Amino acid sequence: MSSKDIPAIDPRAPIILEMNHISKTFGAVTALVDVSIKLRQGEVLALVGDNGAGKSTLIKILSGFHRPDSGTIIYQGKEVRFYSPREARAHGVETVYQDLALINHLSVYHNMFVGREYHKWILGLKLLDNKKMRDLARAYLDTLGIQIPSVDSLVDLLSGGQRQSVAVARSIYSSPTILVLDEPLAALGVREGAHVLGLIQNLRRQRSVSIILIVHNYNQVFEVCDRINFLHSGEVVLDASTSETSEEQLIRIVKSGLGREAIAAAAAEIGNAM
Ligand SMILES: Nc1ncnc2c1ncn2[C@@H]1O[C@H](COP(=O)(O)OP(=O)(O)OP(=O)(O)O)[C@@H](O)[C@H]1O
Ligand SMILES: [Mg+2]
Repeated sequence: MSSKDIPAIDPRAPIILEMNHISKTFGAVTALVDVSIKLRQGEVLALVGDNGAGKSTLIKILSGFHRPDSGTIIYQGKEVRFYSPREARAHGVETVYQDLALINHLSVYHNMFVGREYHKWILGLKLLDNKKMRDLARAYLDTLGIQIPSVDSLVDLLSGGQRQSVAVARSIYSSPTILVLDEPLAALGVREGAHVLGLIQNLRRQRSVSIILIVHNYNQVFEVCDRINFLHSGEVVLDASTSETSEEQLIRIVKSGLGREAIAAAAAEIGNAM
């Protein structure tokens, strides 16, 4: 499925998220310097950059895992600050972390429903409705084409790629407003990776959820994303739409060492950069 099959994002689509002037240090390490990003309703935004550029830190600030030293977050038109990933999730911001957040000693189906378990009442006792969760999890994973030996398997016993597939499936299942995926393809085989890309592409076609996708492979960026934000040493150095940028241009910019002159030249060439 090529990106060209999906109409470009409507430039009038409302802005659902703005992170403005975010800075963050960890002791002597400066992770983010005055970073601003915008995300429209239904848009798929790629966050790219070298190891240590600050990508995970930025999305962990959005999801309430880290506090910013300065800066503001405007979500659905209001300034917000989430104090925990649980709070962000309750407001529709669902994150799949690079360092995975599944609970290893629970089964696949229990993991699918962590924090939103189904219950049933028997003789006045509130019990987990395991049958319902097991059946729903099995049906949903089947729909997504995710192959797991059994939804009863402990997550501990799954392969890294299977774990990642379950984490992605769980995040999509919750119908979030914003879905943040930090390198969801990193541990996946070719077939599984293509499958997750297909899922993202489907969500993009529906334009019902806004997605921030951290990914290292530029080919995948151009396949499924509407816009690219390039982070370098804690700063956004490039903000460009994928329809007006080519993979070759992006590679040229990166190879140039991301100096100010190279960025300025690229910005002039692309026309819509920062
Ligand atoms: N909890 C932390 N404590 C101290 N330093 C941290 C912490 N988290 C991140 N850092 C530092 O902040 C910088 C940005 O890290 P971050 O994880 O955001 O990078 P990244 O762009 O996600 O990299 P990668 O592509 O390797 O995942 C790095 O120098 C990292 O060492
Ligand atoms: Mg990271």
